[in-house]
Amino acid sequence: MMKSKPDQDCLHGGVYSVNPGLVQLDFSSSVNPLGISRHLLRDLYGELNSLCTTYPDPLCRELKNSILDYLGIGLDPSWLLIGNGATELIHIFARTFLRRNVVISAPTFCEYELSTRRAGAAVKIVPLKNWKPDTEKILKESTNGCDAVFLCNPNNPTGILSTVSMQQIIENISSDTQIFIDECFIELVDDGDKKNTMIEMVSDYKNLVILRSMTKSFSLAGIRLGYCVCNPKLINRMLENKISWNVNGVAQKLGTMVLKDPSYLEKSRRLIQRERNFMMNELGKTTKFSPMPSDVNFFLIDVSNQSSVEVRNYLLSKRGILVRDCSTFTGMGLRHIRVAVKKHIENTTLIDAFKSMGP
Ligand SMILES: Cc1ncc(COP(=O)(O)O)c(C=O)c1O
Repeated sequence: MMKSKPDQDCLHGGVYSVNPGLVQLDFSSSVNPLGISRHLLRDLYGELNSLCTTYPDPLCRELKNSILDYLGIGLDPSWLLIGNGATELIHIFARTFLRRNVVISAPTFCEYELSTRRAGAAVKIVPLKNWKPDTEKILKESTNGCDAVFLCNPNNPTGILSTVSMQQIIENISSDTQIFIDECFIELVDDGDKKNTMIEMVSDYKNLVILRSMTKSFSLAGIRLGYCVCNPKLINRMLENKISWNVNGVAQKLGTMVLKDPSYLEKSRRLIQRERNFMMNELGKTTKFSPMPSDVNFFLIDVSNQSSVEVRNYLLSKRGILVRDCSTFTGMGLRHIRVAVKKHIENTTLIDAFKSMGP
């Protein structure tokens, strides 16, 4: 059995990844730039007293019904598991199903690797090929005693969608291997989730688990809310590893409320696409920073012969701007940083800071 690596190997961005007092603008967390509307917060305030003093519904019934209405895929609540953020569900999945070995297409979100190691299983990394999943190799590596394959669409940190690969892997992998597809950013891709999600395939594939997060799409990062959709047999097994009341009452209520505004995600996608194009266009005028293509609300920047750590430290100390140094992702060196797409005024500040570092 592979020995566990320390948790420090799974590092995240966010203001608490550094001295929070230094951060005026956080471009290291990729949260929907539209935020939460003021009227929604006002409505929540009216219910805050009872939400704080009453035990929440351990089965999250109202929230599950809202999610099912929102997804519109004709499933019932037994196909859903709600988590205190998507991260909790990654770990519940790992504790429940991972024993032998696991394939991870990387670089990607580090919690897959961490949860696998904690569950006592071995990690087989299949490197991205031209920044996309190497479908053939993933299928080849997942044949012998492989409990699961972790995939992320669109992937973090690349921001690239690989919908066809997802479909090919689902259709060709052994039915004994679980396929865990993280779609936490899929609602923020330019053409939306409907054309790209694999969620409807859960009814045909008993080994498919789709993960969604409301922390990115609906800007609830501090509230912590995520869910997964899969066959009820898998849900029932994962329930054995879930604590009671894992999702607090404020999260359940706010989750239900944000899903009621059908225009929110469409507005978000328009803002993200416009601002990402603006940022990439401006960065394209510099010689030191090359933006890489992305389908979503964050993108990689190639810093060429500079060091990603030094660029991050410079922007933080001189400008109070935090970007994500990608050297801590498995399989990445010091050549890339990742930035979120935010509102125009903030993006302009970031671009000015890059331009101040040279032509
Ligand atoms: C691909 C991916 N999945 C899941 C998560 C975690 O989501 P949550 O905040 O819901 O735990 C992240 C956070 O960065 C992520 O990048």
